[in-house]
Amino acid sequence: MSTDTSTNADTEQVRDTGAVPVTVARGDGIGPEIMDAVLFLLEEAGARLDIEPIQVGREVYERGITSGIEPEAWDSLRSTRVFLKAPITTPQGKGYKSLNVTIRKTLGLFANVRPSRSYHPFVPSPHPDMDLVIVRENEEDTYGGIEHRQTQEVAQCLKLITRPGSERIIRYAFEYARAHGRKAVTCLTKDNIMKMTDGLFHRVFDEIRTEYTDIESDHWIIDIGTARLATRPADFDVVVLPNLYGDIVSDVAAEISGSVGLAGSANVGEKVAMFEAVHGSAPDIAGQDVANPSGLLHGAIMMLEHIGQPDVAETLHNAWLRTLEEGVLTADVARGRDSVEVVGCRDFARAVADRLGKKPQELRPARAAEVSSSYALKPVKKATKALHGVDVFLDWDESDRDPDVLGARLEALTGPDMKLVMITNRGVKVYPEGFPETFCTDHWRCRFVASEGAGAPSHKTVLGLLDRLQEDGLDFIKTEHLYTFDGQRGYSLGQGE
Ligand code: NAI
Repeated sequence: MSTDTSTNADTEQVRDTGAVPVTVARGDGIGPEIMDAVLFLLEEAGARLDIEPIQVGREVYERGITSGIEPEAWDSLRSTRVFLKAPITTPQGKGYKSLNVTIRKTLGLFANVRPSRSYHPFVPSPHPDMDLVIVRENEEDTYGGIEHRQTQEVAQCLKLITRPGSERIIRYAFEYARAHGRKAVTCLTKDNIMKMTDGLFHRVFDEIRTEYTDIESDHWIIDIGTARLATRPADFDVVVLPNLYGDIVSDVAAEISGSVGLAGSANVGEKVAMFEAVHGSAPDIAGQDVANPSGLLHGAIMMLEHIGQPDVAETLHNAWLRTLEEGVLTADVARGRDSVEVVGCRDFARAVADRLGKKPQELRPARAAEVSSSYALKPVKKATKALHGVDVFLDWDESDRDPDVLGARLEALTGPDMKLVMITNRGVKVYPEGFPETFCTDHWRCRFVASEGAGAPSHKTVLGLLDRLQEDGLDFIKTEHLYTFDGQRGYSLGQGE
């Protein structure tokens, strides 16, 4: 595999001169106090950092900047390319945009990495052996926000899965597994239903897994996979998923680990990466010095790995594990437990600092590693693409929505070049020979292909058809062309087709 290691090379350069520039936002609520604790620990552990503070969050929103981030802050992020961010409070109400989504999309942070581990018995967990990492695709899928209301009754959201996007995240998952000495990568999709989109993700997974024969790999359908993960999480190691499933499954994993408040998260792109805690700004306990800095500390530990300081990451992580083992805890994890020393945020950080250089005695020690996030894509042969037909979507609410009435009307408009092969409603075939029991909305997909002997259709043929539909008073709301790629069907069949 050829990998572009520009990020690592840049880090190397900075290492020679000493400190790595890092953009830091102290956030809202408990943000400033947990960030202070984490910065203190980074310094105590010997992290070589050059901190550039920026302001994001509530105060920025309140100044009328709806993105929650000032224009100058982007310059800092673009130049340091590493962002350690405390939680922020997203104001409720119209017009405010989620800062995380903005940063993720603007800076191309394609991978969301969330380790979920239990620290039983030091933090009680129903799954004592759980130790998995969710690697979620972060940019594609239904999160492109491409949504349309097309008829009175129907709205749609476009789910986009791409080959390069899938390849990048899947390769990242395998590289992560290899670097961290993890044994297996599991892919979860719903490709038994979404054969084109999830099917592509699964296919790319099958291609890439052949390059990582040192790592076990398997694929599960997302529903049974999630059920299994929720009941037997110890069976999973690294899990790679498309965006929406990853969003849900990473929360399931964090919740059942029993330590959601301790978890950190990385959003990694080719050029920039952002590190944070999984939890929010906890305004209910802000300013009381009781917050647990561990989630943000885990984010900072992942940051140290990313910038090429895995030695410091490991030292900090091991000291933190030892602190847990010795029963020094903040109130949120100490609840209901005897023989523990309950401390505030600042004292917890001091307790971790006191144990720097020590390793845990019972919990698995930390293993830190650098993972490249910049890969050359596999070359793929350009496929021959041919137009085979067109799906015309209509907004039609006449004649008691009788599909046979619509079918007869369309048959009369087809002409010599194109023929109607079916009409579906919500994906179910209703013409020809539909079932009277099928419920029909006002949203109809009408599939046309070339008539026998007419040759392959062209865009002009399609435009001619649309012209006839329009003249007949039919409201076509969109079209989807039916292509084949190297002779393989590039569209799904209707249920019952
Ligand atoms: P939250 O995670 O802030 O708080 C949920 C509960 O967990 C609260 O009882 C809180 O006191 C407790 N908690 C959270 N972190 C803790 C810590 N480190 N130590 C001890 N206890 C802790 O979630 P909530 O209340 O739903 O959201 C509060 C604000 O945070 C909202 O404005 C939300 O939009 C924002 N938020 C920001 C995120 C980010 O910046 N990445 C992520 C999630 C929420």
